[in-house]
Amino acid sequence: MDAATLRENLKRAGQENALRFYEKLSPQGRQKLGEQLQAQDFSVLGELARDYVIHKPQVAIPKDIKPVPIYPRDPGDKYRQLYQNARQRGIELLKGGKIAAFLVAGGQGTRLGYDGPKGEFPVTPIKNKPLFQVFAEQLLAWSRDSGKSIPWYIMTSDVNDAPTRSFFRQHNFFGYPPADIFFFQQGMMPAFSMDGQLLLAEKDSLALSPDGHGGSLRALDRSGALADLRKRGIEHLSYFQVDNPLVHCIDPLFLGLHDLTGSEMSSKTIPKAGPLEKVGNFVTGDGVVQVIEYSDLPDALAKETNSDGTLRFNAGSIAIHALRVDFIDRLNHGGQLKLPWHRAEKKVSYVDDTGNPVKPDKPNAVKLEQFVFDAIPLAKNAIVYETDRAEEFSPVKNAEGSDSPATCKRDQIRRAARWLRDAGVAVPERNGEPDATLEISPLYATTE
Ligand code: UD1
Repeated sequence: MDAATLRENLKRAGQENALRFYEKLSPQGRQKLGEQLQAQDFSVLGELARDYVIHKPQVAIPKDIKPVPIYPRDPGDKYRQLYQNARQRGIELLKGGKIAAFLVAGGQGTRLGYDGPKGEFPVTPIKNKPLFQVFAEQLLAWSRDSGKSIPWYIMTSDVNDAPTRSFFRQHNFFGYPPADIFFFQQGMMPAFSMDGQLLLAEKDSLALSPDGHGGSLRALDRSGALADLRKRGIEHLSYFQVDNPLVHCIDPLFLGLHDLTGSEMSSKTIPKAGPLEKVGNFVTGDGVVQVIEYSDLPDALAKETNSDGTLRFNAGSIAIHALRVDFIDRLNHGGQLKLPWHRAEKKVSYVDDTGNPVKPDKPNAVKLEQFVFDAIPLAKNAIVYETDRAEEFSPVKNAEGSDSPATCKRDQIRRAARWLRDAGVAVPERNGEPDATLEISPLYATTE
């Protein structure tokens, strides 16, 4: 696109100001800014600024919110046969090479205060294995046991793509076949000033940040990952986040249940630790399964109880999903992924109109992100399956306190102790806690 067309497009979107230093830039600077701008969808920039930035959108939570139906962890008589069939089906899918793993790792990890891709973070109690290695070894174990290598799609973003790839290379891909790892980058969204103008981080570059894990569904298509999935004959993606080393990257029962029920997007839930725990809430809203983020669920609803005192809305989201490849294809049909945007006010450094750098000390900008769970209401037969927190959820999000490296190590040790006890090994205890530091390699014991 030539400079005049670029200017014309920006003018139409009310964003011509982004080119205010353009004439004075070096050819490289012009090219850089030009490329960043051309990566944006001009047809919606103006609308986004109007509807999400200048006017704060009303968070529209559904009128009729009910607890979501759940496939319970304990099958009881009702689900025993179904779960047996599901597990069997999951194993068949693995043996047939129909499952791929999908890790979203494009986020910035600001809360943890770790300067680098979060997946590099050393997380295990003894060997200090990084998160990436924990996942790689789980997937290697399942590949070995099913006799089929599991293709692994890893989404990064412009902020961490190069270091992520080089970390894998330095560690020899943790033994994973490089041909079965597909790295790709998610899209970047520009930050807007509070009055809806694109912010420049430098005279020759926009202030950009990753477009949210919902952007993964678009990036799969745009990056060629979807075509690769098709070529390999993959039917389902097992989706997980980078921050939770307890995740079962592959769970035959869950994947089989997802397949047998004809669900296009399935999710795992755990009972919440309390009414206001900072996890998304699965609900049925206006008749469809969906997630309402903790910040959007009114406290009064979050605190509602059943007659037995249990929480009425107790289905927490741990961001583990199974997705049909056909569904992702359908969502991208026509090149437009129709997920809502979520608005967050943040501090974003920028250059002002005279070209001076400004480091704000209070939120000055709006960032927009899409969330993957907003695809659930668009899915046919979406199901929610319950798992156990102690078995499968202890993320590393904060430097200290809850969801920190310390609580995560404690939970890995507790789980290892339980697995050992279940296998008949006596584990010493003190004050109800394992009196030992334990670590079990994912290559040795597969997660189920
Ligand atoms: C998220 C969920 C929450 C869920 C919780 C479970 C959101 C908004 N909320 O919270 O419902 O209960 O996890 O742990 O997601 N990521 C990208 N690209 C991005 C943004 C994020 O790849 O642009 C990845 C991160 O690398 C990470 C994951 O998404 O793997 C989670 O992102 P994060 O922003 O930390 O979510 P939470 O607020 O912790």
